[in-house]
Amino acid sequence: MIERPRRLRQTPVLRRLVAQTRLDPAQLVLPVFVAEGASSPRPIGSMPGVVQHTLDSLVDVARRAVAAGIGGVMLFGVPERKDAIGSGACSRDGILNVALGRVRDEVGDDVLVMADTCLDEFTDHGHCGVLDARGRVDNDATLEVYNEMALAQARAGAHVVAPSGMMDGQVGAIRSALDAAGFEDTIILAYAAKYASAFYGPFREAVQSSLQGDRRTYQQDPANLLESLREVDLDVAEGADIVMVKPAMSYLDVVAAAAARVTVPVAAYQVSGEYAMIEAAAAHGWVDRRAAALESLLSIRRAGARVVLTYYALDAAQWLN
Ligand code: PBG
Repeated sequence: MIERPRRLRQTPVLRRLVAQTRLDPAQLVLPVFVAEGASSPRPIGSMPGVVQHTLDSLVDVARRAVAAGIGGVMLFGVPERKDAIGSGACSRDGILNVALGRVRDEVGDDVLVMADTCLDEFTDHGHCGVLDARGRVDNDATLEVYNEMALAQARAGAHVVAPSGMMDGQVGAIRSALDAAGFEDTIILAYAAKYASAFYGPFREAVQSSLQGDRRTYQQDPANLLESLREVDLDVAEGADIVMVKPAMSYLDVVAAAAARVTVPVAAYQVSGEYAMIEAAAAHGWVDRRAAALESLLSIRRAGARVVLTYYALDAAQWLN
């Protein structure tokens, strides 16, 4: 007698019955860009179908996110003016904070409103932190700005703040600042394991980043797995409610290791370059867009991510419903 695993693959209903992993729109988060002073949505060349929103078109998307039943929207701001310390990030009328308020007013608690807590969109040098006299990213001076930024985001209405700058101690600092100001319920989604990745290329266009050089002194070396576990442990100890691995597809081993290690939910971010690769291949007819997108998302879930950030969130919700 031979073993027959094929017996369980005979029909769609049978395959569905025994599927170990499922994709659910409730677990998807849509990253969105909002541009200060934009009078109409601006396409992003390297991310077909993704735009820099106006405040009004952003509110429309938030409404669609509620209707689609996805879990959240993650907002990134594109300011008109940048400076050395990223002032636009902390001011009440900075584009990101204004947008958070508009979206939260619209959706209430029907979708989670999340904010990228990082300076790179707001600094004229494009780094994720402030610089010291020698032009290096100053970890501890940056933490003070992050605290202020997170507070501004919580005040504006963010349910979730997401520190993504990979500064040491950022989660603990932000947790203390939020608690001291009465925002004990504001959730911290920590970009715990964030690699210095080539797959962020299209994002830099999306936020019109002015970065010269790279982020290798703060983002992680793609060679390292154990370092991610150290980062994840530190963030959990500092009070992270959710820990994230980024990018997703080239780092599924990291997702799996993090999910096996911690009891908080693990998220993964399918980044701009991952989206762009599928889009470019699909545009040539080299892969089936829908099948490739859904397979990539399912794989990220199978690796152990409970939450997935993806530019496909609304499309996927439609495909799955
Ligand atoms: C930092 C940030 C980046 C992304 C999300 N948050 C850029 C970077 O670290 O260089 C990239 C997301 C993507 O590529 O989709 N604010």
